[in-house]
Amino acid sequence: MIYPVILCGGSGTRLWPSSRRAFPKQFAAFAGKQSLFQNALSRLSGPDFDAPVFVTNEDFRFLVEEQAAALGLLDGRIILEPAMRNTAPAVLTAALTLKDQPGALMLVAPSDHMIRDTDGFLASVAVAAKAAQEGALVTFGVAPDRPETGFGYLKLAEPAAAGQAVALSGFLEKPDRQTAAGLLEQDNVLWNAGMFLFRVCDILEAYKLHAPHMLALCDAALAQGEEDLGFFRLGAGPYEEIGAVSIDDAIISKAENVVAVPLASDWSDLGSWDSLHAVSADGPDRLSEAGPVTAISCENTLLRSEEDNIRLVGLGLKNIVAVAMRDAVLVASLDHAQDVKTAVEALRENA
Ligand code: GDD
Ligand code: MG
Repeated sequence: MIYPVILCGGSGTRLWPSSRRAFPKQFAAFAGKQSLFQNALSRLSGPDFDAPVFVTNEDFRFLVEEQAAALGLLDGRIILEPAMRNTAPAVLTAALTLKDQPGALMLVAPSDHMIRDTDGFLASVAVAAKAAQEGALVTFGVAPDRPETGFGYLKLAEPAAAGQAVALSGFLEKPDRQTAAGLLEQDNVLWNAGMFLFRVCDILEAYKLHAPHMLALCDAALAQGEEDLGFFRLGAGPYEEIGAVSIDDAIISKAENVVAVPLASDWSDLGSWDSLHAVSADGPDRLSEAGPVTAISCENTLLRSEEDNIRLVGLGLKNIVAVAMRDAVLVASLDHAQDVKTAVEALRENA
């Protein structure tokens, strides 16, 4: 059995205005009726999986509870972070809650991905579980098709064979554009899909080696934490003292027992409007679910209305994303999709 650890405490700003501080992207429905968080949870609810561990921010507790309950899948533990400290402390905290089962497997899953081929995904999880049982920290790899700067890159020690785990010879988190372009030219380089599988004992050992201070602070945050109406609230003092760092930077780029399993399914990180546009073009699901939209003579354009009573009409548009909400409208060139983050930061500073 595998414990899913569902990370759902981030706040993606590049999907503004649909993703907000109080309602981040993972809880929004971009593909079909379910939210990305619900998609992730459904994927990890089959017979191979134990009850999930949710790690989220205090502010999102009712979203997690409501959306998991709506699927009838609210049987796990919801850990609440008093502050966002990125993914390294979130994964460590989940591992510590399982430390009385050192041999148990945990599958760390972000909640901002779209995977349509669940069978292919589960086949890769089975391959990964085998490697993890032998002591590896397993990452999942995706063949890159562009010099993306928002992802991690896995360098494989040898060519990836389908259905097999391969040792890593290097890991590079979020390289700059030039480095990413250089990596794309090399053989045996995959994107890091942001999911991880390992035994509880192996990941705790890795934190002991590479992040002992974080381990002590997370231990203290759990010891000072308390159960509260179905949630587990971490002790704020020690948790806030932890520096924000991703598991990629803190552990995966440093550990020596990391392997990669090439993902046998489709995969998209729905982090920005251009990636949403890319999956809406080839999939059966309509992404502009909510409100009425009309596109006339538009090319390479994503139109989305979040309101039933706001009709969004695009006429003769090329390479544009337009998103209409009651209190905010975004109109941007798809080439500037990554800069939405900067725009939102500027809005916050001026607010
Ligand atoms: N609980 C909790 N607390 N969850 C968090 C926090 C936090 O402070 N910060 C982020 N998360 C959650 C997000 O909600 C998301 O589901 C997941 O952790 C990953 O965080 P992102 O912030 O989306 O990471 P990323 O996309 O920049 O980078 C990661 O994913 C890429 C692929 O999508 C890395 O693993 C990259 O190497 C990878 O390529
Ligand atoms: Mg992400």
